[in-house]
Amino acid sequence: MADTREGHWDTVYTTKADEAVSWYQPVPETSLRLIRACHLPKDASILDVGAGASRLPDALLGEGFTNIAVLDVSAAALARTKARLGGKGISVRFIVADVATWEPDFPVDLWHDRAVLHFLTEPQDRVAYVDALRRTVRPGGFVLVSGFAPSGPERCSGLPVLRADPDAIAVLLGPEFELIEAFEEDHQTPSGGRQRFVFTRFRQRGAQGQ
Ligand SMILES: C[S@@+](CC[C@H](N)C(=O)[O-])C[C@H]1O[C@@H](n2cnc3c(N)ncnc32)[C@H](O)[C@@H]1O
Repeated sequence: MADTREGHWDTVYTTKADEAVSWYQPVPETSLRLIRACHLPKDASILDVGAGASRLPDALLGEGFTNIAVLDVSAAALARTKARLGGKGISVRFIVADVATWEPDFPVDLWHDRAVLHFLTEPQDRVAYVDALRRTVRPGGFVLVSGFAPSGPERCSGLPVLRADPDAIAVLLGPEFELIEAFEEDHQTPSGGRQRFVFTRFRQRGAQGQ
């Protein structure tokens, strides 16, 4: 089972404490700053793709957002978030799915991905990811994608990753998405290491002129 995608990730989330994984953040500050910069209404539909056991939904609920969905290939990861949120998470939509095969069935105003696309090293999986994204993000909606920078690590969670700069992410998403901002930042891992990340914020161009 560990040799499948969900098997790998379920093993991670059933054997390691939240704080024991390199990508852990007590508060996802940079993602929150980028989300705030989109000036979305509190009932905007926000999807965290490959959410894992991230504290992002906790923080978004704390900011008053009411329409949050989290998707991950690992049921164990989402079970952790569900348990942690308890009654606060009653309105959160939990979706166990591989983003590369997921059939989107609702529109979103903001697609958030921290350190997920970079695991899709096969071209057909990246095409499927973008296809799902295009079908999901509303005209004028936002896309936040972050992952390892070109100078970042070559592997994450023992798996190879495809490091990318903002231009490469922009080419992948296609011309209907305008790159609004991009920057690099070090993530400090719980064990004291540093990982160079690229953060990007795009807007679907359909909103222009509205
Ligand atoms: C490095 S972790 C990042 C988790 C979270 N975004 C965060 O910032 O804490 C990568 C996450 O992506 C999920 N994942 C990996 N490949 C995936 C796929 N193809 N579809 C959906 N989720 C995936 C993993 O289960 C894991 O939770």
